[in-house]
Amino acid sequence: MEVIETQSGYNTDKYREIRQNMLDNKKITACTYCYEAEEKKEISERQKSLRDMKQHSDLLLSQIKDHEAGFKIKPYWYDLRLSNNCNLRCKMCSPDNSSSIAKSLGIDKPHLLHEPEIDVNPAAIRLYLSGGEPFMIKRFTDIIEKIENKNCEIIVNTNGTVVNKKMLDTLTKFQNVCITVSLDGYDDINAKIRLDSDWASIDKNIDVWKEKGWSIHAQTVVQNDNINHLIPLANYLEKKSISHWTCQEVLGDESLHWQSNSSIKKYQILPLLDLPLVKKNMQLSALLKRILTYAVA
Ligand SMILES: C[S@@+](CC[C@H](N)C(=O)[O-])C[C@H]1O[C@@H](n2cnc3c(N)ncnc32)[C@H](O)[C@@H]1O
Ligand code: SF4
Repeated sequence: MEVIETQSGYNTDKYREIRQNMLDNKKITACTYCYEAEEKKEISERQKSLRDMKQHSDLLLSQIKDHEAGFKIKPYWYDLRLSNNCNLRCKMCSPDNSSSIAKSLGIDKPHLLHEPEIDVNPAAIRLYLSGGEPFMIKRFTDIIEKIENKNCEIIVNTNGTVVNKKMLDTLTKFQNVCITVSLDGYDDINAKIRLDSDWASIDKNIDVWKEKGWSIHAQTVVQNDNINHLIPLANYLEKKSISHWTCQEVLGDESLHWQSNSSIKKYQILPLLDLPLVKKNMQLSALLKRILTYAVA
């Protein structure tokens, strides 16, 4: 079993070079996607993380002081994608992220089939769990259990089709849990894109999370197959009182891009701009306005 040395990971040549390049105001290749988003006047993940980190500037300064004084410092903020274990075969996803896609293609991904151990900091302040499907990755429950800071923000990016009781019970001990559920359409449109998914289970699980008082964020990958079907999804989110909706454009295979749909209907996009859910999200409004310029009648 591989043990990830998170502490020493800070001081590999690669990370030292990245930090130095940042200090020298040089662009980092791994951040290209964010730079491109910023050029399109979108708020990138990089900018969102910097904004979020500002709330913890005292912690950041004390970490810098400890590092300069020669103490070993531990991470406080984790983004964990430990395995590609997943029950779905979404059209836009890849074998690296989904064991079901890997299996259907006859691809062996042994490096992702085990779940590495993580020496997590019990005082962590943010944990982002993705995959694969986080509710199918057993190691995540062990990791959450090791966190003593019950105010730690825990974000679970899930396909919504499965929950496991042990992980739910462990999450219940935390005060700041956010479920980011990936929904690419309402009901049959979601099933068309998210192959093997079952809408009734997703709907039921959303109710379970709501009952626990967790915040719910819906995330949609805008693409060819859902570009004319966003209104029923938005109506569903409003009905479920889900007031945080983000949409991102599909990456990869151009045939999946919304731009490859030659009959985007104006009447399927325009009404979205008036919804409170959309009005409060500048990035989503900007994307929809850009899509409108491609729309026919
Ligand atoms: C890889 S999934 C892992 C978490 C979980 N299985 C889920 O679907 O939410 C993380 C996010 O990446 C998105 N995603 C998958 N393939 C994508 C692609 N080609 N372009 C953009 N986002 C993609 C998914 O829709 C999901 O919101
Ligand atoms: S559920 Fe998530 S990880 Fe699984 S195939 Fe879909 S996008 Fe990929």
